[in-house]
Amino acid sequence: MMTSQGRGMIGRSIDEIDTPALVVDLDAFERNLDLMARRFPAGGQPVLRPHAKPHKSPAIAAMQVARGAIGVCCQTVDEAQVMVDGGIGDVLLTNVTVSPAKLSRLAALARRARVELCVDNPLHIELAERAAAAADGVLHARVEINVGGNRCGVQPGGEAVPLAQAILAAHHLRFTGLQAYSGNAQHEHDHAQRVARCQGIARDVAATRAALAAAGIDVQVVGGAGTGTWDIDADLGTYTEIQAGSYLFMDGYYLRNRGADGRADDRFAASLFVLGTVVSSARRGHAVIDVGTKTIGTDRGLPQVADRDDLTVTRISDEHIVLEVRGAALRLGERVRLVAGNCEPTVNLHNHFVGVRGGRVESAWPILRAGVRVLPL
Ligand SMILES: Cc1ncc(COP(=O)(O)O)c(C=O)c1O
Repeated sequence: MMTSQGRGMIGRSIDEIDTPALVVDLDAFERNLDLMARRFPAGGQPVLRPHAKPHKSPAIAAMQVARGAIGVCCQTVDEAQVMVDGGIGDVLLTNVTVSPAKLSRLAALARRARVELCVDNPLHIELAERAAAAADGVLHARVEINVGGNRCGVQPGGEAVPLAQAILAAHHLRFTGLQAYSGNAQHEHDHAQRVARCQGIARDVAATRAALAAAGIDVQVVGGAGTGTWDIDADLGTYTEIQAGSYLFMDGYYLRNRGADGRADDRFAASLFVLGTVVSSARRGHAVIDVGTKTIGTDRGLPQVADRDDLTVTRISDEHIVLEVRGAALRLGERVRLVAGNCEPTVNLHNHFVGVRGGRVESAWPILRAGVRVLPL
């Protein structure tokens, strides 16, 4: 999907992109997209249900679905709305909610798509049932278990049983299974430690499945995993649904993960960059670019400069980054590409992905946050 506003940039040289801009290297992006799709083709097991929160773009979600993904995950009802409005037919809210307003929006979406949500308390079930009944529709629901993330979710084992029974007893809800995601496992940089975390999750899931089976409850779906553990989890057979999302773009935090051989795991490459321009080089050994905390996320450390060993980000403020320059001085107007520590909050600060290939702008996908108007590019 491309907006009419975006078309003005298509075909132009990348030198004409005004900065700061969120740029996608389309060759690297497509390699990432295809690599994950090859491992989880349509009709295989487990299936891929990528998380859409790193991109918030139905255009990108459609590429994932076209390559075999069963649907997408969303973390907010706004994201779910955007995906269903953009034509995605199967959406899981990997979250719990106690908001009647949000639940009635989800129930309305469920008239146009298959919509599922997570629960970890009888009140979630009661409110979801009420919203689905008012819309005269059906919501799918899974019980979230805490597999180490220590956020939402009941403890693994028997605590899931009464919740599953309550979903099964609700007229407008359909029980599917378990949500068992742990963010902690994803960013365990050492491979052996990541494997150990995944094995712990596998045990937690098995114990919960056993408790449900003992109560005569069939678990069809177990969802979880991410960019750090997709392959380990798939080999362990823990999940029926793999929910990786950041693999499309990668980021500084994920790029620190090591493979089994102890070397950098470079199967997925950085494809997302914030493009900046040198606006000042007044201080010897330094340069200032027009990127700051309002255009690149810093929750996981300072950004890294791509392709340049002679440049290091030393400071960041609202609209500026100060670079230490160890090689030749940078020219005013020179471009610098930055890799964010965390791709997700970075995407959230922009209105478009500017897709580039061979030095030209090839696409301009809007980043849709419901309620935020996307301005012309
Ligand atoms: C519920 C859930 N599933 C999956 C993921 C994995 O996403 P990623 O591959 O982007 O780390 C996340 C990330 O936060 C998540 O919250």
